[in-house]
Amino acid sequence: MAIIPARPGDHNLKDYARARETFRFEDVEREFSWYTTGRVNVVYEAVDRQVEERGMGQQVALYYESGERQEEYTFGRLQEESARFAAVLKKYGVQKGDRLGIFLPRSPELYISFLGAARLGVVVVPLFEAFMAEALRDRLGDSGAVGVVTTSELYPRLPLDQLPALKHIFVVGEDIPKGAVDWHREMSLVTETPPLEWVGREHPLFILYASGADGKARGLVHVHNIMVGLLITARWVHDLRPGDVYWCTADPGWITGIAYGFLAPWLLGVPVVVRGGRFNAEDWCATLARYRVSVWYSAPTAFRMLMSGGDELLARYDLNRLRHILSVGEPLTEEVMEWSLKKLGQPIYDTWWMSETGMNMICNYRCMPVKPGSIGLPLPGIHAAIVDDEGKELPPGKIGNLAIRSGWPAQFRAVWNDPARYQQYFQHRPWFISGDAAYRDEEGYYYFQGRVDGVINTSGERVGPAEVESRLEEHPAVARAGVAGKPDRLRGEIVKAFIELNPGYRWSEDLAAELRNFVKTGLAAHAAPREFEVKESIPLTRDGRVDRRVLREWILGLGGR
Ligand code: WTA
Repeated sequence: MAIIPARPGDHNLKDYARARETFRFEDVEREFSWYTTGRVNVVYEAVDRQVEERGMGQQVALYYESGERQEEYTFGRLQEESARFAAVLKKYGVQKGDRLGIFLPRSPELYISFLGAARLGVVVVPLFEAFMAEALRDRLGDSGAVGVVTTSELYPRLPLDQLPALKHIFVVGEDIPKGAVDWHREMSLVTETPPLEWVGREHPLFILYASGADGKARGLVHVHNIMVGLLITARWVHDLRPGDVYWCTADPGWITGIAYGFLAPWLLGVPVVVRGGRFNAEDWCATLARYRVSVWYSAPTAFRMLMSGGDELLARYDLNRLRHILSVGEPLTEEVMEWSLKKLGQPIYDTWWMSETGMNMICNYRCMPVKPGSIGLPLPGIHAAIVDDEGKELPPGKIGNLAIRSGWPAQFRAVWNDPARYQQYFQHRPWFISGDAAYRDEEGYYYFQGRVDGVINTSGERVGPAEVESRLEEHPAVARAGVAGKPDRLRGEIVKAFIELNPGYRWSEDLAAELRNFVKTGLAAHAAPREFEVKESIPLTRDGRVDRRVLREWILGLGGR
């Protein structure tokens, strides 16, 4: 595919080469209120400041739509309601530094709860709404959450008897279970709201659980300082400016839905669209058109869904306002890029980053030519490299570990309860080793080549093989399980499980369905294996862990045992 020329004109990052030489993150720090006042809280910068310093209290911050519900929240209303929720938390004794799980579907209550907690310096533990009992137990348990916000529908999934630290359960909905707190009623009872708490730049903002190659999901600790990375990427990568309407389609249970779903755009006072519930290709178009979305951040899986809707669908909607489209999470294929050029009249800008990085790291920018197939160039201020397994830098053209020089502003600061895991990422200082393989060309463009560590990426969702294995091994039929990603045209990868059966069990389609459901109801639907294969034994390494190399060989058909 041909190189797509730079799009001069209305872009923020005017000269990549120059910015690359001269930009320092300190340059953007000056733009924050705390730079002069010394008082830090990301909620102040993203919400209160728009009201108190910029006269934007009446401006819409959030357009929400789900089924029958259609609501608008101004910055002023978000400030007011999140302060109310802070009052509710205070009433129940939830304090600065305490952890609060947020287990809600995309809804205004989710954003209000997040902001309300962060206002007080309470640390949010985002929980994707598809999580089931075991995934919830691991995350709420590990983080030691003292409270959780959920809905009456999701409430039954909480394994309360296994969560001794969990004292307060705030429930949004009609049927409030015994012992739980009625979120809406409490909000209506508030008469006085507490002042926003000032915290340090290094104070934890949220702990996001992300799957790794081994063990359980790890709690990545992000701090208020994440805002520095979010502000500059909102501008340079997403090209946000006054007058924009921004739609990031990711769920706030994942990093993209937090960092870019609301924090980054609100730092610039740009309104976001949130669409709840499930939706099809037609709903996508309708949403883009109805809210006159100008900047759209989504994933290849979503673009493919839109493609499957057919041309006549696109023709029925006025998408004229759409001026910038970005992608994340999985490889942006040529097929998708060609479709966008043809049908939407513009390229899609790929962005590479991870839960650990907290912000976009290697991206395509409007001011630079786009080489289809490349994830782009490092953000000015970010130093990337390809290194070998000893941490030595490799020259252009060589595939190796994609690494980032440690010390960027949105970097995760710890793995909760697990300093050893944190150190693993930095075993070749000064590099952060991403776990992705890539190479770089002579001009410095990077090309993603897949994960090196066995983490599975299915439709842009990160699945840890070890979590799925240990769930499968809880089933009486399974002696041992080995799980790996299998390449798939539509989903990037699918979850494939190799099963060693216990004596007395026979393989059948029914058992496969049962195991799939067992993972689905224990962990989450996206973690459930789409394919199974029975093996006499699962290969182990000398130290007794599943030998992922052999699983990969089995999948790719390179022989095996
Ligand atoms: C993958 C999502 C191809 C990668 C923000 C990374 C990508 C993992 C891209 C992180 C991209 C992210 N092209 N693959 N543009 N961006 N990935 O933590 O393997 O959910 O390591 O963060 O997604 O997934 P995570």
